[in-house]
Amino acid sequence: MPEPRVLLFVGSLLITAAVFQLLMAAKTHSRIGGVLGHTALPEDISIDTREYSQHIQDSPNPVRQNSSYPKEPFISGTVPSGFLWGTSTAAYQVEGGWNTSGKGESIWDHWAHQPGRTPLGDTACDSYHKYATDVQLGANLAMTAYRFSISWPRLLPDGTLAGGVNQAGVDYYNKLIDELIAHKMVPFVTMYHWDLPQALQTKYGGWTNASMVDYFNDYATLCFQKFGDRVKRWATFNEPWSFIVPGYGLGVSPPQMLFGMKRRQYEVAHVVIKAHARAWHTYNDSFRAQQGGEVGIVLGALWGQPRNTSDPRDVQAADNFEQFFLGWFANPIYGNGDYPDAMKQMINGDSAADPRLPVFTEAEKAYVRGAADFVGLNQYSAVLIYASDHTFPLDFISLVMPDLKGVKDTSDPTWPHGASSGFAASYVVPWNIREQLRYFSEKYSHKVPFYITETGISEKEQFPPNMNDTWRQCFYMLYVDEAIRAIKLDGRDVRGFFAWTLMDNIEWGSGHSVRLGLHYTNFSDPNLTRTPKASAKLYRDIATSGGFPEGAPHTKHTQDWWDWCHTNAPYNNNTETGAGHYRGPH
Ligand code: NOJ
Repeated sequence: MPEPRVLLFVGSLLITAAVFQLLMAAKTHSRIGGVLGHTALPEDISIDTREYSQHIQDSPNPVRQNSSYPKEPFISGTVPSGFLWGTSTAAYQVEGGWNTSGKGESIWDHWAHQPGRTPLGDTACDSYHKYATDVQLGANLAMTAYRFSISWPRLLPDGTLAGGVNQAGVDYYNKLIDELIAHKMVPFVTMYHWDLPQALQTKYGGWTNASMVDYFNDYATLCFQKFGDRVKRWATFNEPWSFIVPGYGLGVSPPQMLFGMKRRQYEVAHVVIKAHARAWHTYNDSFRAQQGGEVGIVLGALWGQPRNTSDPRDVQAADNFEQFFLGWFANPIYGNGDYPDAMKQMINGDSAADPRLPVFTEAEKAYVRGAADFVGLNQYSAVLIYASDHTFPLDFISLVMPDLKGVKDTSDPTWPHGASSGFAASYVVPWNIREQLRYFSEKYSHKVPFYITETGISEKEQFPPNMNDTWRQCFYMLYVDEAIRAIKLDGRDVRGFFAWTLMDNIEWGSGHSVRLGLHYTNFSDPNLTRTPKASAKLYRDIATSGGFPEGAPHTKHTQDWWDWCHTNAPYNNNTETGAGHYRGPH
């Protein structure tokens, strides 16, 4: 019997590779032996949109053959002055220097040093030593901002103040921040991009322990004290969903705590939301008057589009998906201080006496509600959502959101997509940006500015590298134009756009086999040279001119390419390793 082939996709989410593994193991009892980027992946996964389309057509709820979300017309226009054009990175993915100059071990270092893995993050892009090169790359692109994360164990090796501050770590971030400012770039700093000090995991069980609220607050306070004179934009957490569900629910990424889908992951999120709020209050009470900055959170924002917008069941299903995914964090912070109704009903409906979804007290709700000055949204892609009580086909939701009942996800076969790396299987759905911003604006009462803190498209590593990344140029043409449309047509207060990512780096468990950079990083070269891809030039033109002004050559170029960029052609360069059709490690 031929093995069923399944295409899952989760936009930018970390967990995809592991989810593939679980799904395929569960569904096909297949060989789980392949190793991609040192996270186990099934060897027999083959990702082929044609087959998947067929699979969808054969299913009881066939998706429409023609996308009912046609491409938007190109519009020329520019962003308001002061808008931030940037690239994003994260400490574990670029810094290296994993145990250099007093840095403590993180849960990702710990994971990567287990037998059978190659700890590529030990060196990564060596930004610990090459930070000035990185800043220069950003300056060459005419960036006005750089989003990077601070490594908690580089500042506090065992995670605590009692364990001592690592002065070399403070010095490193001071140098990076000063270098950015010298090159007229705004530092946009994430405090937690998943690299928890291993000591906090070992001693206290990491985010399962309520005392983490205090430890995180100590760390955040240290950041404000040391860097807040120059850093005015702070994100507490990056994509909490993406480290909580895989790490503490499924147990497939560090700290690999298994069997937590029904209860532990909700308890962890409760701690994380309180830690976020605590850090915001600390800033608000003790630093804001003097430093005058903003503190927010970055949320993964995979847009759930109702498959049939005139079917109220699909519309409700899509809303339920949004509530479980984005709303889990957004509703407490930007809404009414509490979890979304759909979560409370579906999770605690069967456990009222011993609620699995923790319950906020009234005082906690008041403390959490409104505890943010902005929201960062990582907006890579979308899913089509439909109402269904069937078990099959197994989908992303069945695997990672078992408490979300009656809701299934699929995709539209007309959507172009990037390399289905297992980590960043990005369908190119530019209008997800505008839809998500609309939803957020209408849904939540605490009105804040938006930053698009990440978006980008992956390709599989290939030799020689294809520096002429037309698919990435297309991607940024479409997505930047969508952001401009949100500002101009919908009046959304979008204040920045950050491309993921400055240079190819360590895509978590996939290592450097999956590449999203505007610069190619040569990991075989001891100097780890970074070379601009064609997309870097385009992104520079966009940033320099503030978008797509009438008459600019890149505006004309974008107009000329507009229709083509909405087809699969640019994303499928007819190689096994192109952006369009990654067939898995055969
Ligand atoms: C989201 C994460 O924040 C980032 O670390 C990751 O590399 C990108 N998505 C791409 O998968």
